[in-house]
Amino acid sequence: MHHNPIHIQQLSYAYPDGTEALREIDLAIAPSERVALVGANGSGKSTLLLHLNGILLPQVGEIVVGEQTVTPENLKDIRNFVGVVFQNPDDQLFMPTVWEDVTFGPMNQGVRGSELERRACVAMQSVGLEPHHYGPRSPGNLSGGEKKRVAIAGVLAMQPQVLVLDEPTAQLDPRSRRQLINLLRSLPITQVIATHDLDLAVELCSRTVVLSQGQIVFNGVTERVMANGAFLEDHALESPLCYSRPYCLLDHRPSEHLSPNLLNLML
Ligand SMILES: Nc1ncnc2c1ncn2[C@@H]1O[C@H](COP(=O)(O)OP(=O)(O)O)[C@@H](O)[C@H]1O
Ligand SMILES: [Mg+2]
Repeated sequence: MHHNPIHIQQLSYAYPDGTEALREIDLAIAPSERVALVGANGSGKSTLLLHLNGILLPQVGEIVVGEQTVTPENLKDIRNFVGVVFQNPDDQLFMPTVWEDVTFGPMNQGVRGSELERRACVAMQSVGLEPHHYGPRSPGNLSGGEKKRVAIAGVLAMQPQVLVLDEPTAQLDPRSRRQLINLLRSLPITQVIATHDLDLAVELCSRTVVLSQGQIVFNGVTERVMANGAFLEDHALESPLCYSRPYCLLDHRPSEHLSPNLLNLML
């Protein structure tokens, strides 16, 4: 692929009540890159993600996805290209059974028969849901972690080029969170992950974008921003655990940030 799968230029967006949620966002995401999008509540993460598949349309500026500009006319192509997993799975799951939910997207793309079945099974297995066991169940009766996995399977079954996730670990217990991290790591497609889970960002994303009041205040190497506690605090974020505890995950901790005191503690 020669193009960046996502290219945003000078995007600004205000909600109808006048809230300015995004201001002059410039962002390009390269093929197969995993980018973390972090920032305080209300900093504009979800608003930005909702632009990536045209749920919200740019008021000012431009978004190019693949080779297409996001406009009302080509929303179908845009949504085949970018799959968004919402923060709350209840916003995504609306069919009577898991199987119908997972097949809904590909059916809309015109996929039928054995190919439809194959795609849904592969997608469910990739998120650790056994199709015969979970397929007939009602999404409403699943746990938060299971619902989240069904929502991701439904998006993966559409075979998007870019996977966008809004707070994917928010309702997950530690084991489900670990499974999800392993799943995201195993997927070779471009990913944009809005998250409060900075440890996830450190583990998965080589690049981090920090939003503050609708503006990008950092766009660069994840380890650089995570090591800067003062900057994180200024933007209502907390250092990831692996940077704040001297005894864990030392491999992740760049040595120049170890103060002599901390070194003494560890010896
Ligand atoms: N539907 C809406 N109408 C008006 N304002 C909204 C709406 N959704 C979000 N906002 C406002 O837009 C800003 C960005 O919100 P959001 O994108 O949800 O932030 P985040 O996902 O980072 O928490 C906040 O000030 C929020 O209150
Ligand atoms: Mg949000």
